[in-house]
Amino acid sequence: MPRTAVVILAAGKGTRMRSERPKVLHPLCGRPMLAYVLETAAALEPAETVVVVGPEADETAALCEGWPGASTVVQDHQLGTGHATLQVRQRLERFGGDLVILSGDAPLLRAETARSLLAAHRQEGAALTCLTMTPPDPTGYGRIVRDGDGAMVGIVEERDAKEPERAIGEVNGGIYCADPKVLFPALEELRPDNVQGEYYLTDLAGAVAAKGLTVVGHRAAEWREALGVNSRADLARVARLMRERINARHMEAGVTFIDPEAVYVDDTVVIGQDTVIHPQVHLWGETTVGRACELWPGAHIIDSRLGDEVLVKDSSLITDSEVGSRVQIGPCAHLRPEVILRDGVKIGNFVELKKSEMGPGSKANHLAYIGDTTVGERANIGAGTITCNYDGIQKHRTIIEDEVFIGSDTQLVAPVRVGRGAIVAAGTTITEDVPPYALALSRAPQVNKEEWAHNHWAKRDELKATESDDEED
Ligand code: UD1
Ligand code: CA
Repeated sequence: MPRTAVVILAAGKGTRMRSERPKVLHPLCGRPMLAYVLETAAALEPAETVVVVGPEADETAALCEGWPGASTVVQDHQLGTGHATLQVRQRLERFGGDLVILSGDAPLLRAETARSLLAAHRQEGAALTCLTMTPPDPTGYGRIVRDGDGAMVGIVEERDAKEPERAIGEVNGGIYCADPKVLFPALEELRPDNVQGEYYLTDLAGAVAAKGLTVVGHRAAEWREALGVNSRADLARVARLMRERINARHMEAGVTFIDPEAVYVDDTVVIGQDTVIHPQVHLWGETTVGRACELWPGAHIIDSRLGDEVLVKDSSLITDSEVGSRVQIGPCAHLRPEVILRDGVKIGNFVELKKSEMGPGSKANHLAYIGDTTVGERANIGAGTITCNYDGIQKHRTIIEDEVFIGSDTQLVAPVRVGRGAIVAAGTTITEDVPPYALALSRAPQVNKEEWAHNHWAKRDELKATESDDEED
């Protein structure tokens, strides 16, 4: 089995992104762009992966160093892709296999395409093999120059290209296989004789071909795979294609998307079979959705786990929470971090929860704030209930035991405990613990003044009469 080592070029400044953040760390469907390239590299099972990073790219280096089998070298000055590749010379010039050179800004490349590039390289006994593509618009890419027999003889960068070369539709994908014995000596010979004054890796194609060695232009089966990200517009285009790929993967695994183009699922998300996802749903981060769930329009779920047969209704936000099976949430519910809803819980409209647990079968169906609270099983929390968890200095916990009934418009001033099976009357302000099976009520007794309203309405009629007299004047 011939051996492979991977080089990833990721030191570029990414000037065209106009960003404080290194280009290769821009997020793409929930992961930094470079993570996809590292993953493709790993799928080639290389002897090692070396990433060329910029001098102040600590975060980029940290991502790579934490990646199994990957390490970094620093390119102190960004003098071009040829110069970047030369930085791995010490590490790889004695490597006895093939080098695969990937670009940190081309995250759509699939491992099978890199493998087919490698296979072509080996089959042709090439010194250098370039992945090429023919996009509908070649603007911005290096053009592939072939001779009359179709053999690749060089690459011309767009900025250095003359009219006839600009008309060439086949472009350089920026992904290569190379023989290290040929690559490094040829890189040493590069000169920055071009419009940008850079050491172009692409000049190698002409240089190697001129030595009479074989240079192969291997056409990618799918041109979109080599799309590079240079600008925010490229990032949006690549993100759309990545989303398409992610959603297709879930559909193949048995998830229904009513309109896949309008659903935003991070690459890190897991979704169970027979789940139905409506438009404008966002699933971000380390989120897991169980089987046969239904996510209605506008459900936004971040770093949360949902069990099976969960229904999330329109415009509900769920963050960093744990949801059991057969739970209903929303419309317009808000689960803030550290919420746990056990099986069969119902959370209705305009209910906000934070750092709280609701036991199996408990309900809060309308307009409530439940913070720093533990609710037992089958409790019912009435409309307008508020846990007053904050005294302006500290947060305090509320405990509502099993089968408690909390009437509407109740305030629970924490810390407080409502015992099992107790009933809290509507409109009550709870400031002391309620014993199990007690009725708690704190509202002022009601007074009815018999016949009182007659006088009141008589005054209204009098007033009306004088008004209409005025009108007649
Ligand atoms: C490059 C190719 C072009 C090809 C295109 C495909 C060159 C000269 N041109 O152009 O033919 O069509 O990719 O997407 O190679 N980098 C470094 N150090 C540097 C400069 C760049 O590590 O000094 C890295 C970047 O981080 C990036 C990659 O190399 O990941 C490509 O560099 P970039 O500047 O994006 O090259 P393009 O102009 O896109
Ligand atoms: Ca690029």
